[in-house]
Amino acid sequence: MAWHRLLSRAAIAGLLAMVGTAKGQETETGNHPDWPRWCGKVYEAGYPAFDPGGQTVEPAPHPDAPLLHIQIKPRYNLYLSSEDEAELIVRSEISPYHGTPWNTSSSSSDRANWFIFTVNLVDTDDVIISNKIIVNNTSTEPQINILSFPLSRLGKPPSLKPIELVLYGAPEGGHPTWTTTTSILYLPDRGAAAKRSSVTKIDNLSGSLFFRPGGGNSNNSSSSSSTTTTTTTTTFEPFFPYGFFASYDGFLGRNDSTAQIQAYHDLGFNAMTPLTNYSGSERNFEYMDELGLRIMYNLRENYKNLDYVREQVESYVLDSEGVFAYWSTDEPDGWQDPFHFPSDAYTLLHALDPYHPVALVLNCQNYYFPHYSSPSDIIMSDVYPIGINATFSKWNTSCTPTLGDCGCDNCAGNLQDVPNRLDDLSRYEKWLGLWPKTKMHNPQSFHGQDYWLRDPSREETYVMALLAVNHGAKGLISWVWPASDLLGRAHGGLAKVLTRSPVVELLLGKYYQARGYVQGDGGPFAAKVVVTGNQGIEVVDAAFWVRTEDSGKKKMLLSVVNGGYVDINSLVSIKLPVNGGTIESIPWDNGGSQKVEWKLERSTLTASRLPALGTFLLVLDLFSV
Ligand SMILES: *[C@@H]1O[C@H](CO)[C@@H](O)[C@H](O)[C@H]1NC(C)=O
Ligand SMILES: *[C@@H]1O[C@H](CO)[C@@H](O)[C@H](O)[C@H]1NC(C)=O
Ligand SMILES: *[C@@H]1O[C@H](CO)[C@@H](O)[C@H](O)[C@H]1NC(C)=O
Ligand SMILES: *[C@@H]1O[C@H](CO)[C@@H](O)[C@H](O)[C@H]1NC(C)=O
Ligand SMILES: *[C@@H]1O[C@H](CO)[C@@H](O)[C@H](O)[C@H]1NC(C)=O
Ligand SMILES: *[C@@H]1O[C@H](CO)[C@@H](O)[C@H](O)[C@H]1NC(C)=O
Ligand SMILES: *[C@@H]1O[C@H](CO)[C@@H](O)[C@H](O)[C@H]1NC(C)=O
Ligand SMILES: *[C@@H]1O[C@H](CO)[C@@H](O)[C@H](O)[C@H]1NC(C)=O
Ligand SMILES: *[C@@H]1O[C@H](CO)[C@@H](O)[C@H](O)[C@H]1NC(C)=O
Ligand SMILES: *[C@@H]1O[C@H](CO)[C@@H](O)[C@H](O)[C@H]1NC(C)=O
Repeated sequence: MAWHRLLSRAAIAGLLAMVGTAKGQETETGNHPDWPRWCGKVYEAGYPAFDPGGQTVEPAPHPDAPLLHIQIKPRYNLYLSSEDEAELIVRSEISPYHGTPWNTSSSSSDRANWFIFTVNLVDTDDVIISNKIIVNNTSTEPQINILSFPLSRLGKPPSLKPIELVLYGAPEGGHPTWTTTTSILYLPDRGAAAKRSSVTKIDNLSGSLFFRPGGGNSNNSSSSSSTTTTTTTTTFEPFFPYGFFASYDGFLGRNDSTAQIQAYHDLGFNAMTPLTNYSGSERNFEYMDELGLRIMYNLRENYKNLDYVREQVESYVLDSEGVFAYWSTDEPDGWQDPFHFPSDAYTLLHALDPYHPVALVLNCQNYYFPHYSSPSDIIMSDVYPIGINATFSKWNTSCTPTLGDCGCDNCAGNLQDVPNRLDDLSRYEKWLGLWPKTKMHNPQSFHGQDYWLRDPSREETYVMALLAVNHGAKGLISWVWPASDLLGRAHGGLAKVLTRSPVVELLLGKYYQARGYVQGDGGPFAAKVVVTGNQGIEVVDAAFWVRTEDSGKKKMLLSVVNGGYVDINSLVSIKLPVNGGTIESIPWDNGGSQKVEWKLERSTLTASRLPALGTFLLVLDLFSV
């Protein structure tokens, strides 16, 4: 949420002056830093349009392409001393931009080549993995290989310091030409030592979060049943955070907000980002723990003050029961914050507390993405397209890629802005050769400030939330609570489905098997599928997730969204990479009063019709192949 929209220009100038005094004279990023800008563009009337700078663009294809781009990551961003095994992901991709030329003609087989490698500890050069993988040069999708190894091979006691790893690779029979590095966290499990202390793992394969609450604070015995024992456990629950940024004024700032927090929880939310800190709101934070409501901890007002950041970590978060992430900074790109502020906060947070990931919010569509996204583990996107005038602003300027602020940066002012932004972020990562980060979306649940004429409707809310999920969002935190009764209930209703069984396990599936996504930009595992039908079909969006259960049974979660405002009254076909199965359940059906008939025959799922703004989640029980 953009504060400049709430403040007068004079107040902003005052605010910036204060920031300036905190750490010498800091310069904003981009061009014309002395003019009133948002996302690098001047937004008040009376200034010329200019190139804001900082765009991420598609790199020119490498002259020696095809290249083989090899990247490695630990499967989870951290491992605990109570665990024995770790996994390493080797991601290989035939890329026009990144990597080293791959001599396809050296292969004996037509379509595959062997890539041979070792993964070594940087400091001792000890080998922890020695293996080979097939490189499929006809596939433009990244190939994922998961290799496990015992943590004892790291040869080190657990500590807060990341352990550096390096991969050396070569084509079979060729010279080692590939080198790539990563680091792995092998941390002391504080579960036994500290009475509280939650831990969040990020699955680097899918970006999903897995959460283990701390054990001590709550007097509600059921809220942390899996971890109340003092013996440490590695039980991490799949965790899809769904909630709101919750205001201090009129909500958490009351002397006792427990009844309000209870009501919020009872609507179905499992997470909250309080717009305040622990000090002075102790009872509220404790009550959230009692309810099992997980917290994204707010640092944004003071994140530039590292003493403050340290104090928050050490006095509360490090030993908290329910904190699942930090929220370090809000729209630093919109504010054109100097790059070092978000990155100083991030570095300190990881040094003090590697147990909790750091989230930040981006507002701009394409303004210094690599700089502003790098100091984060989770990127949240602010895209508020409903009720805006996307072409002319309240400041009496037009809005273009070089001018103006219409409340949603470079938006069209419709529902598609939400998935388009998530796709943009994924595309930048691909262009830059970066490992994709966890994404979340901040749904619009407000109006006002002369930018947003109205709230989204209930149906628009569902469409935007599920389009975000289809395009890779692993959490939904709306701006802002208290919201209208209608939006509170709408989001709460969907939260009850997305955060619970059977949907959450499929959505965040630990044992992901979805490989063949058709259109590449939906994130690695929100696999987009081809949908066919008559008029209106181009705004139908479907995605699936597949999970193999321990029994070997395969299940699919399919999400279908009609993002259009018109009914599709004819048959809609969705082609799935399956060999038949049955529809086990329909956990979410917002298709209105006239029932939609679903049928699965071989690999084709059909819907008898798709009402305007209809949203559906289906669980399919797949026949074994
Ligand atoms: C590719 O491999 C083939 C067969 O090993 C070899 O003859 C050729 O010189 C290689 N080409 C390059 C550019 O290295
Ligand atoms: C894949 O390898 C085959 C030979 O093994 C080669 O003919 C083909 O051009 C390669 N394709 C790409 C996209 O590199
Ligand atoms: C290589 O990838 C293509 C396209 O995804 C696929 O059709 C083919 O089966 C793959 N080949 C191998 C050997 O995995
Ligand atoms: C236990 O919970 C109740 C309300 O559920 C609260 O009033 C009480 O203060 C809590 N006790 C402790 C020790 O947290
Ligand atoms: C206790 O925790 C459970 C699980 O988180 C929650 O559903 C329930 O509402 C809580 N009960 C009370 C009295 O706080
Ligand atoms: C909070 O409690 C104090 C002391 O009882 C009281 O003076 C104050 O008005 C209360 N504030 C609110 C917002 O209720
Ligand atoms: C956070 O806590 C400090 C005391 O540690 C307090 O002075 C400050 O006003 C609080 N900030 C916010 C944003 O609540
Ligand atoms: C946006 O505002 C301009 C200027 O007031 C107006 O001409 C235009 O019709 C508006 N567009 C929309 C979609 O409301
Ligand atoms: C925009 O123009 C209108 C009409 O000329 C004027 O009333 C309004 O004050 C202007 N707004 C700003 C922010 O300059
Ligand atoms: C993967 O793990 C690294 C730590 O090795 C972490 O910084 C990064 O955010 C993770 N990426 C994803 C997609 O979860």
